[in-house]
Amino acid sequence: MIKFFLNGKEVSTEVAGDMPLLWLLRDSFKLTGTKFGCGIGQCGACTVHIDGEAMRSCLMPVSTLAGRAVTTIEGLGTEEHLHPVQQAWVEQEVSQCGYCQSGQIMAASALLANKPNPGEQEIDQAMSAIICKCGSYPRIRKAIELAVKAQS
Ligand code: FES
Repeated sequence: MIKFFLNGKEVSTEVAGDMPLLWLLRDSFKLTGTKFGCGIGQCGACTVHIDGEAMRSCLMPVSTLAGRAVTTIEGLGTEEHLHPVQQAWVEQEVSQCGYCQSGQIMAASALLANKPNPGEQEIDQAMSAIICKCGSYPRIRKAIELAVKAQS
């Protein structure tokens, strides 16, 4: 049995230790905001926070999670109190097809948690790892800049 923290609550699981976290989230915990894109660590659609860092859940075996804190898009904010990055996403109307957006938001929120006032290049560098087929990168950058202002 593996115990860890999921969106602030302690949870346990008895799935095979080599199961990727992505499938545990989606299939066992029904947290389907985290998306499957490539399954091989290339696209970033599956990005979640593990101990506050943006990580690809498709590459994270469940066996590595004991005692760690996992946050998914469902645990980032609430409907009443969106996370500043989520609020900025809404205001900038970032989403087009929307498929990659939870990964984008989790990557952006981890960036701002670790670097509250990133420059343009730092934003572009951090976000280039999350592929958006709709090409929403200019709106993503604007939303992150808006979230920076909202947090300061
Ligand atoms: Fe994990 Fe693409 S699904 S990086």
